[in-house]
Amino acid sequence: MTAPLIDPFQRRIEYLRLSVTDRCDFRCVYCMSENMTFLPKKELLTLEELDRLCSAFIRLGVRKLRITGGEPLVRRDILSFFRSISRHLETGSLDELTLTTNGSQLEKHATDLAAAGVRRINVSLDTLDEAKFAEITRWGRLPQVLRGLDAAQGAGLRVKLNAVALKGFNEDELLTLTQFCAARGMDLTWIEVMPMGDIGNENRLGQYWSLKDLRADLARHYTLTDLPHRTGGPARYVRLEETGQQIGFITPLSHNFCESCNRVRVTCTGTIYTCLGQEGHSDLRAPLRASEADAGLEDAIRAAIALKPKGHDFDYSRQQVDGQVSRHMSHTGG
Ligand code: GTP
Ligand code: 5AD
Ligand code: SF4
Repeated sequence: MTAPLIDPFQRRIEYLRLSVTDRCDFRCVYCMSENMTFLPKKELLTLEELDRLCSAFIRLGVRKLRITGGEPLVRRDILSFFRSISRHLETGSLDELTLTTNGSQLEKHATDLAAAGVRRINVSLDTLDEAKFAEITRWGRLPQVLRGLDAAQGAGLRVKLNAVALKGFNEDELLTLTQFCAARGMDLTWIEVMPMGDIGNENRLGQYWSLKDLRADLARHYTLTDLPHRTGGPARYVRLEETGQQIGFITPLSHNFCESCNRVRVTCTGTIYTCLGQEGHSDLRAPLRASEADAGLEDAIRAAIALKPKGHDFDYSRQQVDGQVSRHMSHTGG
């Protein structure tokens, strides 16, 4: 038996978020600047190396694997990676294989994802207004994403929408987004905007819409019941009694959830970040490439997790942005 991955704060690490590319076909204003410099392809781990890396984590006790990016579905041949890694679902060593996507490529890939054992996906969508969608994603087109949602549901995938709560941007869509999800049988999770990466002239403080306020708004229209269940992610869920649907809240700012953190992130270059909100990282690519055996890699994973910090330092409470991290969200995949 291998010893489980336990961090210095006695948290068991069972959730790996793997970013397979830093590229994206959108340029969401809170996530990227318009002119991003992407990694040269030669820096990336190959799909075979990513598979080996994930398999090592699974051997060490990871039960949930989420593929992120950038936009994961723009990486060439990514479906072959899904098909290969899904063997761990079949053997029972992995409970869930899933992804977070902007939805733009779902029309093409939904059926193959479902065939590879994906059951549930998270799609990032902040607005249902075509003009606003084009504004916030800079390069994205809403109808393409809506067709992607249809394709996903048509393929039998459960869909959860992730919306970043943005003051003055989608406040007026609280009910429309809720009703849209109810009508389509999709869950919806709201996320507080985090200070990650330089985003040019956008102002984080001005963007921040606390989910305490959002929840209070929602409670004016629906009866909310707190739900005890967890998906292994940071969201806390309520049920809307009138519709039966679930709404999740991810509240890094208004209610820190770091004490129950069970996850680490690995980028497409094989760098492990043990906290989304801290700069600390370690390299796994060198130990991965140093040997065909995995002993050195496993040691490096354990050594990295032994450095996992207690939590992030994001804080807007003093009328300024504290705890900002320099890398963009697209680097570590959210
Ligand atoms: P499920 O509960 O399985 O749906 O997964 P999830 O909520 O972990 O996944 P998702 O990719 O939908 O995560 C949504 C967003 O929550 C991420 O993009 C991040 O913005 C935020 N998030 C996830 N994990 C953390 C974390 O450890 N710390 C912080 N600060 N934010 C996180
Ligand atoms: N703060 C909060 N969420 C963000 N996302 C991207 N940038 C930020 C940010 N600065 C979200 C995306 C997507 C997920 C991967 O992270 O909208 O849902
Ligand atoms: Fe792309 Fe997602 Fe970042 Fe938007 S939030 S630019 S869709 S990686």
